[in-house]
Amino acid sequence: MLPARAVPVPRLSDGGAPVADRAETLVMDATLAREDAPAVGVAGDPALAPLGGRRRPAIRVAGAAYPPVPARLVRPLPGQLPLPFAPLPALPMEVDWKDRPRLWGHAYHPMCSYLASFPAALAHAFVARYTRPGDVVLDPFSGRGTTPLQACAEGRIGVGNDLNPLAHVLTAAKVEPPTSRDLEARLASLRIDWSFEAPGWRDLAARVAAGTPAGSVTGAPTGSAAGAPARVAAGAPSQATGAPPPVPAPALVPEAGSAGGPGDGSELVPAEVALAFHRGTLAQVLFARSHLRLGDPVDRFLAAALVGILHGRRPGYLSELMPNTFSMAPGYVRDFAARTRFAAAERDLFVLLAAKLRRLARDGRPRSTGIALLGDARDAGVRSRAALRERALPDRARLVLTSPPYLRVLKYGYYNWLRTWFLGFSAAGIDATLDDAHRREPYLVFLREVLAGLRPALADDAVVALVLGDVEAERGRAAADGLAIGLADEAWEGAARPEGYLLAGVVGDEVAAARKMTKLWGDEAGRATRLDRILVIAPTEAGRRRAVAGATLPVDWSRPHRR
Ligand SMILES: C[S@@+](CC[C@H](N)C(=O)[O-])C[C@H]1O[C@@H](n2cnc3c(N)ncnc32)[C@H](O)[C@@H]1O
Repeated sequence: MLPARAVPVPRLSDGGAPVADRAETLVMDATLAREDAPAVGVAGDPALAPLGGRRRPAIRVAGAAYPPVPARLVRPLPGQLPLPFAPLPALPMEVDWKDRPRLWGHAYHPMCSYLASFPAALAHAFVARYTRPGDVVLDPFSGRGTTPLQACAEGRIGVGNDLNPLAHVLTAAKVEPPTSRDLEARLASLRIDWSFEAPGWRDLAARVAAGTPAGSVTGAPTGSAAGAPARVAAGAPSQATGAPPPVPAPALVPEAGSAGGPGDGSELVPAEVALAFHRGTLAQVLFARSHLRLGDPVDRFLAAALVGILHGRRPGYLSELMPNTFSMAPGYVRDFAARTRFAAAERDLFVLLAAKLRRLARDGRPRSTGIALLGDARDAGVRSRAALRERALPDRARLVLTSPPYLRVLKYGYYNWLRTWFLGFSAAGIDATLDDAHRREPYLVFLREVLAGLRPALADDAVVALVLGDVEAERGRAAADGLAIGLADEAWEGAARPEGYLLAGVVGDEVAAARKMTKLWGDEAGRATRLDRILVIAPTEAGRRRAVAGATLPVDWSRPHRR
């Protein structure tokens, strides 16, 4: 069990900033994307400044003195010279998941939106083709938990790992869910506590909100989601003395998961948080934030459900200030609130949470229980085996289905800052830790280390499927030679092949182009993936043959994975 907030990520107050839900998947609605495009202010926002010490030490695979990655392998753009290598062979798999409804799958999948998640139907296409009930399915970059949840929904043992504590909370909630009865009992006891404590929390919320009237918050870093207080508005000079009036002490709130009451405050609230909610709702948010302990599976599920409804542009969300897909940049939030005189509508957290729990309960709990791990993908193999053995389960995976982070495409902390604040995680800490900011060569070394670390955790006939985007530009800029980067080709040549894997082929998934979350970024679309390609490899010839033979198996889409 994860002890409350015992994650290796500094807290928001350390300088953090944080993303997205829409009871949907990462592959999100293009209309919403356009609507919210101006929100992003990634570069140059002081809230983004990484924490001092930078990254944790890299986890190295034994003796890893890798030879240089081969010269860039590229897919030619129109008018360019052809690839220096033959194109990778296509795996004859029908891209049948594309024909499913967007929200196809178990009701837990859209618990909380998550950037760059793939659709549940894609996970089903691989789980159904390459595993049987009881097999272990592993995802070392599990994100919102799509692969492990789908595996559990189909009676497999889904193991998800991610270094992002938000991803861990979401994955754990889905693969180790409590019973409905336990959820109802806990919700009832929280309501009772609330009925006693409400006046104190309302008073606290009023004091927090008083520090941040809409339009009075400036862009100074001290009032930002970087962890500084809700800014106290300076009053007019005293007429009697000419001196400025005393500035009231900022209101402090208890830490997330501390079970502290309204009088146990120790933290400041970022100004943008106070702007987002009606003060009545803010009181309930502060109460829930303090009372929910992430180390407890029941509370963790409630917290995951709550971050799924924290913000969105419909009445089912606690704040309508932002879309559910991602948190708008703090600076934009301040300007937007001031410009539009935004006044949050009052929402009852208990009513909305109960409605969310009913939606989540629609398909019951998944058929089997899985495992959620928090840690670096490079040693996910070792930790996954240990966790499986501990539970007396088969300890090697028959299928790995994963999408590694792309080349500096996303900032999972920053674009989730409101959610990470609620859970007590530092958004900047998350972004300083994750592997989303690599250039090409370190990225391939990273991928190679991940693949090396997975080897011991693979069954003899395991299949490994890597969902990779073909990134158009490196680190947000067009590559110097103007060529596109064929990530699947590079991952094969620069990471999988040198690590001794065998190639089964590549599956193309062009669905991404029109609907990718990353389309949100308009001018920054260079960071987006134009085309998802799935590189299918295996550690052995038995696995490679199984990958090829299974590709053409028909998949039953009529199962209870409906939505
Ligand atoms: C493309 S997303 C995976 C989305 C997932 N397939 C889903 O459906 O939600 C990549 C994930 O890699 C995680 N990540 C980045 N660096 C990592 C690392 N070194 N170890 C483990 N996870 C990492 C990010 O937190 C993110 O959740």
